[in-house]
Amino acid sequence: EVMKEVADIRNMEQELKDKLNISEVYIVPGDSDEYSWVKKEMGRACISIMKGKLSSRGNTIAVTGGTSIAAVAEMMVPDSDLKEALFLPARGGLGEQVENQANTICATMARKVMGTYRLLHVPDQLSKESYDSLIEETSIKEILDLLRSADIVFHGIGVATTMAERRNSKAEVLDKLKNESAVAEAFGYYFDKSGSIIHKVLTIGLQLEDLAEIPHIIAVAGGESKAKAIQAYMKHGASQILVTDEGAAKAILSDN
Ligand code: F6P
Repeated sequence: EVMKEVADIRNMEQELKDKLNISEVYIVPGDSDEYSWVKKEMGRACISIMKGKLSSRGNTIAVTGGTSIAAVAEMMVPDSDLKEALFLPARGGLGEQVENQANTICATMARKVMGTYRLLHVPDQLSKESYDSLIEETSIKEILDLLRSADIVFHGIGVATTMAERRNSKAEVLDKLKNESAVAEAFGYYFDKSGSIIHKVLTIGLQLEDLAEIPHIIAVAGGESKAKAIQAYMKHGASQILVTDEGAAKAILSDN
C-alpha cells in the first residue's frame, strides 16, 4: 500500500513536470490547506533539495516572505554544509507580519545553520521618490549586487486576491487586480492566468528579470486553493523547480 502511494506520487511529479513545463517537481503527501504539518513536510523537502544544489565555492541563498518559506526556516537544523552560506531577503517590505517577512526568515535560517545574513531595511510602502533615493544607497546597492549573484532562491506563490488583502492594498490596487483578473502573486508581482504581469509592488530587491541569472529558483507552494495560482505563475516561466503537495498537484492535474 505504502509502495503504491509512493509510486503514485512519483507519477504525479512526472505529469506535473510535463504539464507545467518545468524541470523538477517534488510533491509531499497531503494538503496543506487542511493540515499544517504538510507545509512543514514541504519545508523539509526544500532542505534536502537545497543540499543537493550546494556548491563547494560558497552559497548565497535568497528567500522571500510568507508562511511556506517560514516553514523551510522552521525545519532547518544545524548543518556544517551551510555554515559558510550567506542568507539574504529576496525583496524588501511586502506587508507581511514580522514572523513571515523575508528579513526575519533569512535571519532565522542563518542562525539555525550558523551561517551569515544581511538584511534589507526598507519600508513596505515606498513612494517612487523614496525608491529612487534608496536604490542609490551604498549599503543597499551592495545587497542588490549580492542578490543578483545568488545561487539559490526560495520563493512563495500566493493567490492574488488573498495576497492583496493580506497586504492591506489600496482600493485602486484591488480594483486593478479584479478588473484584469489577477490570479497569482510572487516576488511582489501579480500575474493573470496566462502568466502576464498585471501589477508590481514597488520595493527594493530582486526583480523578475534578475532571476534569469540565478541557477536554482525554487517555488514552494501547496494546498488545493493555490492550484490556479501555481499554474498561472509557472506560465510566466521564471522558476524551474516546484515543491508542492498532493492537494495542489491533484487539482492542477485535473484542470484542463
Ligand atoms: O509576501 C511574500 C510572499 O512570498 C508572496 O510573494 C507570496 O505570494 C506569499 O508570500 C506566499 O505566502 P504563503 O506561503 O504564506 O502562502
